Amino acid sequence: MADEILLRTENLRREFGALVAVDDVSITVKARTLHSIIGPNGAGKTTFFNLLSGNLAPTSGKVFFKDQDITNLPLHRTTHLGMGRSFQITNIFPNLTVLENVRLAAQAMGRSNFRFWRPYTAFGDYLERAHEVMAQVGLEPVALLPARTLPHGDQRKLELAMILAPDPELLLLDEPTAGMASEQVPELMALIQRIQEEGQKTVMLVEHNMNVVMGYSDVITVMHQGAVLAEGTPGDIARNEAVQIAYLGGLYELAL
Ligand SMILES: Nc1ncnc2c1ncn2[C@@H]1O[C@H](COP(=O)(O)OP(=O)(O)O)[C@@H](O)[C@H]1O
Ligand SMILES: [Mg+2]
Repeated sequence: MADEILLRTENLRREFGALVAVDDVSITVKARTLHSIIGPNGAGKTTFFNLLSGNLAPTSGKVFFKDQDITNLPLHRTTHLGMGRSFQITNIFPNLTVLENVRLAAQAMGRSNFRFWRPYTAFGDYLERAHEVMAQVGLEPVALLPARTLPHGDQRKLELAMILAPDPELLLLDEPTAGMASEQVPELMALIQRIQEEGQKTVMLVEHNMNVVMGYSDVITVMHQGAVLAEGTPGDIARNEAVQIAYLGGLYELAL
């Protein structure tokens, strides 16, 4: 099942008035890969993620997740199907501890409905899951600190832990390294890659800086003005003429 497709879009489109934010995008995402979507600010990356997760309804086109048409399902339904997504605005409760934030994320987003029938053990289950996830991202040492006291880099790890808590099959990460000091970026990217590999997860990651994802992605889709400009392995993308022209033309933040 090496080539199993987890997610697929068909001519996915979103207009805002006269603006075409996502312009008939058709992509396939293979299971258990790290698939990055890159492109400059305004390329339509976040809107595309919003269409995948059900945050936003498409103008036209379709989204399939595990061969199921999920095009018009709302966010809570896609979450139950196994999609986890991050938001640019975080859902961290600043005055709760790291542990409480992760446990609440496991509980609130928990997709195992059977838990409703086991109210007395559920709390312990979620607590156990929270500890498991904190260990995975390296936050166990700060488990009992209020979230607001964490340095920025650890807050990004906490967000990652909160997405992981309900054990999604697909993680949609929108600029997970945003606002981090550049020397901390490789550590978070390596962590995301490890989570993908060890957890057999599929990760879709949005990033505006191509260099950040080059060393970690299996596949890169380049978006430009709402449309797909190129797609391939990092090597393919580095060699792609249209991408090179776009980068040399200064459309992107950093050159190859
Ligand atoms: N809710 C909205 N209403 C109107 N325009 C929007 C809305 N959301 C995004 N846009 C526009 O759609 C385009 C794509 O935005 P976005 O998806 O946020 O790009 P990216 O994440 O690649 O920076 C931009 O021109 C943006 O201004
Ligand atoms: Mg964005």
